Amino acid sequence: KDLDLEEILNFAIECAKTVGPIIKDGYYRKKNIEEKLGPADLVTEYDKKVEETIVGMIKNKYPTHEIIGEESASENIVLTKAPTWVIDPIDGTTNFISQFPYCATLIGFMVDRLPVVGVAYNPILDELFAARKGNGATKNGEKITVNDTKEVRNSLIITEFGSSRDDKRMDIVLENMKSTIMTPSRGIRALGACGPNVCCVASGQADLLFETGMHIWDICAVSIILEEAGGCVMNMDGSTPLNYLNRKYIASCTPELAREVASKLKPIEVPADGVE
Ligand code: IPD
Repeated sequence: KDLDLEEILNFAIECAKTVGPIIKDGYYRKKNIEEKLGPADLVTEYDKKVEETIVGMIKNKYPTHEIIGEESASENIVLTKAPTWVIDPIDGTTNFISQFPYCATLIGFMVDRLPVVGVAYNPILDELFAARKGNGATKNGEKITVNDTKEVRNSLIITEFGSSRDDKRMDIVLENMKSTIMTPSRGIRALGACGPNVCCVASGQADLLFETGMHIWDICAVSIILEEAGGCVMNMDGSTPLNYLNRKYIASCTPELAREVASKLKPIEVPADGVE
């Protein structure tokens, strides 16, 4: 039977609003911090609690749908064509721990391996970004659109150091930052969370984000929000369609800007998250 995307979007918003108070409460408390892959890749009891809550709500309402969640995903993700929910319970966990107010619950919904519904909710700043395929994107209910920037020299670029501290990899990260800032571009920014970063591009506060090493749960929800705001997503070499498991991501206000940035970037080899 046909999926009712309006109902699915409303349900995703309900899920995000339900966990908002858990994040807000935890934000001001001392947390149990555990390392995942390294000292810059962290998880708290709140990430787990938020994911469990959302997964429970989805299983109850849509028992046949697939679910990929950051804290419960297997090492080798299999993304099928089936209806699939993709969840980052707290994107920007380090920000959440430091009380730096850019952390958001990201809930995406994919069909045929493409996101068709996305919600990004930052309960600290009370900002809710939402989109469904063909219906535009909103921030707190108001329509948002991307900038029309086509050249790096007129752009504000977002990129992150990421959570790996591998020496060789960091050399390329820094080299890529240098080649974009020296084009020149107007500047480089980083909020420390992929969701809020891409929402900046979607709402015209920045022009492009690039980063290697993120996972499907960092990019799924916000990619449809960006596309519905008029932007586009690509692989880091400038090719399309984006492979959501390859961890090499450009989110841009225009394809021209994305291709110019892509032409300046050196690839960073990271293992894929799984297969499509
Ligand atoms: C992280 C953030 C960060 C990015 C990392 C992500 P998490 O997500 O989005 O900006 O640089 O690659 O893993 O782990 O806080 O959900």
